[in-house]
Order: sequence, then structure tokens, then C-alpha cells
Amino acid sequence: MQTVSTVADLRRIVAGWHRAGERVAVVPTMGALHEGHLSLVRAALARTPRVVVTLFVNPTQFNSATDLSAYPRTLEADAAKLVGLGVPLLYAPGEAEMYPDGFATTVTVGGVSEGLCGAFRPGHFAGVATVVTKLLTQTQADIAFFGEKDCQQLHVIRRLVADLDLPVEIVGCPIVREADGLALSSRNAHLSAAERAVAPHLAATLLAAAERIAQGAAVDAELAAGRSALLAAGFADVDYLELRAADNLQALDRLDRPARLLAAAWLGQTRLIDNVPVMPKAA
Ligand code: PAJ
Repeated sequence: MQTVSTVADLRRIVAGWHRAGERVAVVPTMGALHEGHLSLVRAALARTPRVVVTLFVNPTQFNSATDLSAYPRTLEADAAKLVGLGVPLLYAPGEAEMYPDGFATTVTVGGVSEGLCGAFRPGHFAGVATVVTKLLTQTQADIAFFGEKDCQQLHVIRRLVADLDLPVEIVGCPIVREADGLALSSRNAHLSAAERAVAPHLAATLLAAAERIAQGAAVDAELAAGRSALLAAGFADVDYLELRAADNLQALDRLDRPARLLAAAWLGQTRLIDNVPVMPKAA
């Protein structure tokens, strides 16, 4: 595996692949790679051997300096995992390469960035949209892979790619979970043993509420009950628990189309997010 840290080196390698008529895939990450990330890499390798994994802990999408400095950084272990999968290229730029002096452009996506995490993390999706736009244009990838774990992020990225006419196919990949249902996340490393024991209640609560809503239970009542169940299980706070349309994340107060139930909740200092599909029963 080659590791590069500049746009010039990255472009030279990718241009060679394109000249040879090959398709190029990108998997953007912030590192601390786990099976969730690796599932995206495997999906990319199933489409083309020319996969670029990007690793950049993007400061502009963090809401607190503490969260940014505590974010796990495990470059050597990450590189070893990618070598094991047969990834040919790791792009790990420094901050000065991504945001050189004078950098002044922000990509802001309206609509789908608002509400849910957008309401609780001001500026987060502008940070994500800006860095993803840069990573897509830097790599010139033909296909880009993102996880449904970050469901709103995936919608924001689909929107910006459509709106800016970026010539890239966006592929969403299913959530990888621990055996007890907890969605894999780099932030799970911050959980104490006691918090880790409570964490699977997030997925379990979402699944139980989704099942009851699918069977016709009133949406408002189920959301209120789910919120109470999370607090009773030991979550310190619930930022949101909402039913949204699967295709555009529009708010829903009844299940009249394919939907997604999404939540963000706090365990101590750690904020966990998760989501599950909810399908209306066929009439
Ligand atoms: P990061 O949190 O490192 O996640 C990188 C990719 O892995 C994202 O597309 C995310 O949705 C996916 N992912 C994380 N956990 C997953 C899981 N349990 N199952 C499936 N996929 C999972 O998301 C980001 O980085 C950043 O915002 C980024 C897009 C790289 C921009 O900085």
C-alpha cells in the first residue's frame, strides 16, 4: 500500500489509474478504523481494485475542542488493517494540506442538514460537506462509499453531490453492529464498562419502537415511550428520537411511507447515534 499526504501525489496516482481506464473508489474516514469502516472498504474493493481510503480527522466538523483532542488517532494500526484488505492507496493529509492559509470556502447544504444532529451540532454538517467536497474533488473518485450509521450525513452528501453536479456515484452501506446490537463507532472506545453495558439499549429501543410503529402504534406515543425507556436504561440525555421519511428525511407524524427512526443520546460524555428502518405494512 502506498501512503500519500499531498493532493499532488494523490492526483498523480489516480490519474495513472484513470489513464489505464480503471474506475477509482474512495472511502472517506477519520481513522480509528473498525469493522464498520472495513465493511465500506470491502464493498469498495468488490467494485474496483483501485480504492483510496482517506484518513483525516477533520477539525471543522467537531463541536468541542475536547471531543477533537480526545478523538482516537491510530494511524499505524489503521494502515495495517488496510494492508490486510489489499487497499492500494491511503491518503492521509495534514491540516495544512486540507486548509492552507487563506482557506475561506464553506459548503453549506440546506434542508436535510437542518434538524436531527444539525439542530444539536451547529456547523457540523457544513464541516462535513466542505471536507467531503474536497475529498471527492481531490481524489477524483468515480464511486464513494459511506455508512448508513451516519444516516443524515449520507443524505447531506447525496444532496451536495446532486446539487454541485459532482461526477461520483454515492453508495450507502448497512450499519455494522456488535453482537449485542451496539452500532460500531470510534467513539465507543470512550465508554466506561458501565456505560458500555447500557449502550445496546439504544439499538434495542429503536428496534422495539420501529416494530410497534410498523404494527400501527401511534408515532408520538412510541417516541415518548422510547425516550423514557432510554433515560430509564441509564442514558443521561436524549437529543432526539424521531421518525423521518427514508428518502429525504422529511419529518413524519404517521407511518405512510418507508421511514427511518433516528436517535442521538448521551452516555456520560459520549454521544451515540443510531437509526433503523421502519416499513409500513403492505395494505
Ligand atoms: P468516520 O466517523 O470515520 O466514518 C467513516 C465512514 O464509516 C462513514 O461513512 C460512516 O458512516 C461509516 N461508519 C462508521 N461506523 C459504521 C458502522 N458501524 N457501520 C457502517 N458504517 C460505519 O463519517 C466520518 O468519519 C466523517 O464525517 C467523514 C465522512 C470522513 C468526513 O470527515
